[in-house]
Amino acid sequence: MPPSSDPTSSPAATTPSLYLETYGCQMNVADSELITGVMQTRGYRSISDPALADVILLNTCAIREHAEDKVANRVRQLISVRRSDRPVRIGLAGCMAQHHRDRLLDAIPGLDFIVGPDGYRRLPDLLEADQPTAAVQLDRSETYHDIVPVRGEGLRAWLTIMRGCDRFCTFCVVPFVRGRERSLPADVLMNELRHIAEQGYKEVILLGQTVNAYRHDGVDFGELLRRTCEVEGIERVRYTSPHPADFTDSTIEAMTECTKLAPYIHLPLQSGSDRILSDMQRGHTVAEFRALVKRLRSAIPGLALSTDIIVGYPGETQEDFEATSSLMEEVGFDHAFLFKYSPREGTRSFKTPEILSEQEKGRRLERLIAEQLARTLRIHQTLLGSVVEVLVEGSAKRQPQWLAGKDLQYRTVCFEPAGASPGDVVTVLVESVTSHTLSGRQITNA
Ligand code: SAH
Ligand code: SF4
Ligand code: F3S
Repeated sequence: MPPSSDPTSSPAATTPSLYLETYGCQMNVADSELITGVMQTRGYRSISDPALADVILLNTCAIREHAEDKVANRVRQLISVRRSDRPVRIGLAGCMAQHHRDRLLDAIPGLDFIVGPDGYRRLPDLLEADQPTAAVQLDRSETYHDIVPVRGEGLRAWLTIMRGCDRFCTFCVVPFVRGRERSLPADVLMNELRHIAEQGYKEVILLGQTVNAYRHDGVDFGELLRRTCEVEGIERVRYTSPHPADFTDSTIEAMTECTKLAPYIHLPLQSGSDRILSDMQRGHTVAEFRALVKRLRSAIPGLALSTDIIVGYPGETQEDFEATSSLMEEVGFDHAFLFKYSPREGTRSFKTPEILSEQEKGRRLERLIAEQLARTLRIHQTLLGSVVEVLVEGSAKRQPQWLAGKDLQYRTVCFEPAGASPGDVVTVLVESVTSHTLSGRQITNA
């Protein structure tokens, strides 16, 4: 449906509208910004009420079964309340669309189209089709390098620097739904970074499933980090997720030398047992992970580390689990994302029988959550009385007269302001802490 060219009618009444909901990781958030870019060039405007939309699109995740169940329920509900007074197209995009490409259109009556992570250029055609249609061809050369994403408000911009994954960890669906690893050209990324700075974003987060494996025409990840830090106007640079086996000296040197690179790394461990790491085909041992943490900590002062852990991977014994628990304590992770193993069709571990009950997986998960909360609180308590540097984002949720932002280690800091406004970098004296937040008062504008 093309936008109306009648200058007398109000744009809200005549331009077609898109309602987009995003699930999953930051790469999906960045893909939703690409989708919005594709749709805007076709005249669509974004709206926040699905009841008013011409196109309803859910950008989905397939990483765990629970993520898929949630979306299936949501899309069925949206289909059930679809208006009948005008044509409304409802579709699923992203990893779950790719994962269940052969059955979704049959399984969910009323679904108009599905589009996988490499099919977003085809969106406008899909909307024209007069029967349920799928665009689920993976394309190892698709990087969307020429599509300008439409980013959300705020100070932080996400920039996808590589797509796909070649690692094939045995539990993981990503290589199957996102296809082969491919990096974007450095000059395309530098142009986009300058554009991001011109738009007023202060912080950029470089994205990829194995982001530190970035390589294009001789530019490696360390070099790309250095170049990113040279972009004027961008004050903080972060990246996620690096793979432990892909860290190079070049990256660690860049982390040491570039002051804009924030001292925080999300370093997924998955398990603290060598036997399980090897079964998962993660490509490193516990000893190698320890050695990497040591190198990173000695090169980067004040480094904060977070991680991902899976509990109950097939064959995980109590001993394996205890090894994970103690390695997490030994490393002293500041934060952890903890998951129960979820078998994913098509992956290598899918058919391996699970010996643990859901209850036992749940108990292991709860224990790691409790241990991590206590650890985070302990780390935060060591910060009482210290001064942290905060990029101010806006009002604090619980105390609207206070401001909030993130410190260099990506901790949430709420503070009593003394002249600060969003976008400023200020120093804050930490006066109280919980396992989620640091609180205090503003000392200076940094
Ligand atoms: N590329 C990142 C991981 C991305 S997926 C890396 O390699 O580290 C994000 C996290 O989801 C993973 O780190 C893992 O902890 C979790 N995850 C992936 N597949 C899973 C599964 N089948 N069941 C449970 N958790 C899973
Ligand atoms: Fe999945 Fe492993 Fe790739 Fe991470 S590195 S996306 S866990 S296959
Ligand atoms: Fe989910 Fe796809 Fe990200 S499976 S975690 S949205 S890459």
